Amino acid sequence: MNDRTGLKNRDILITGGLGFIGSNLAHQLVQQDARVTLFDARLEPYGWNDANIRKIKDDVRIVTADVRDRDMVEKHVKGKDIVFHLAAQVGREISMQSPELDTQINCFGTLNICHACAKHGAKVVYAGSRGQIGEPQYLPVDEKHPTLPTDVYGINKLAAEKYLLLFSHIYKFGAVSLRLNNVYGPRCQMHHGFYGILNWFIGNAMQEKPITVYGDGQQTRDYVYINDVVDAFIRVAVNEKANQQIFFVGSGVETVFLDMVKTVINAVGRGSYVHVPFPSERESIDIKKFVVSCEKLFRYTGWRAQIDLKTGVNKTVEFYRQRYSDYIKNG
Ligand SMILES: NC(=O)c1ccc[n+]([C@@H]2O[C@H](COP(=O)([O-])OP(=O)(O)OC[C@H]3O[C@@H](n4cnc5c(N)ncnc54)[C@H](O)[C@@H]3O)[C@@H](O)[C@H]2O)c1
Repeated sequence: MNDRTGLKNRDILITGGLGFIGSNLAHQLVQQDARVTLFDARLEPYGWNDANIRKIKDDVRIVTADVRDRDMVEKHVKGKDIVFHLAAQVGREISMQSPELDTQINCFGTLNICHACAKHGAKVVYAGSRGQIGEPQYLPVDEKHPTLPTDVYGINKLAAEKYLLLFSHIYKFGAVSLRLNNVYGPRCQMHHGFYGILNWFIGNAMQEKPITVYGDGQQTRDYVYINDVVDAFIRVAVNEKANQQIFFVGSGVETVFLDMVKTVINAVGRGSYVHVPFPSERESIDIKKFVVSCEKLFRYTGWRAQIDLKTGVNKTVEFYRQRYSDYIKNG
């Protein structure tokens, strides 16, 4: 975390700031004495939770507003030094059922950020996704890999990234895209498995509900711990060289899905799993193998993931043991 300098008294907006990644980022920024505003529409079924920011609620400003509202976006981007743009429709299957909703939030919402930053000059750090790639043509995936998304979410996350980079180039404000892999850790919602599957499984195991594994569970993913992700956001935010760049953020470790499930069950100390056939709507958008190279992010910022899967899952389980009623409401 050596690059963390210069955030004291900086004015910062986090869209999606009540959610999983946004609230963890807010904790770090408050620790660094930044002036933080959280902008969140509190939409269902996403991961906003007042418990996410309980410890810092008196240290941040909270605005309940929607990124689709251009006036509200402009009003709150004005005067900010940095905007972390995390508000999104996050479910891949939801994006297939409601492509218009996904487009409104992920594309139109991001265009509102583009207009506001063009006018007021704030730097944007955008939460992109591995979903922008589709089924890899080679591994590990790097920033030169072609983008062939397999769902509407991936298409719109890619379009939004392109809007931001285009506007930043033309209107001369800083913009960086971090294409995130499967992020897990404290403060992720546990009510459904539309996304944040590892956390969802921790919730299942804690409640002794069997974990459902689609197919043989041999698909692979790159799981990255939230503290490492927050570190990446902060490093690129304070690094001028990162402007106009795209970076992957992952652990760089290819993990078999079933091994992740076993790691969860071991960490919780109970739980079980069952194999079920892939639902067709899921199978058609599912990716077989995925892992990224983060060499580019390392070259620019010195960032590398620090927390391995076993350590990260243990830390996450410990957090939810202490905060069970905040996150597993029906428990
Ligand atoms: N968690 C992951 O594994 C992962 C992986 C890749 C990319 N991402 C990206 O990271 C970002 C944050 O994801 P997260 O995991 O923290 O999800 P989350 O659901 O926990 O947080 C998203 C937040 O955005 C808010 N939001 C949704 N639509 C909004 C709107 N129209 N206006 C204002 N607020 C709105 C929600 O209320 C929620 O609090 C998203 O952009 C997501 O696409 C996450």
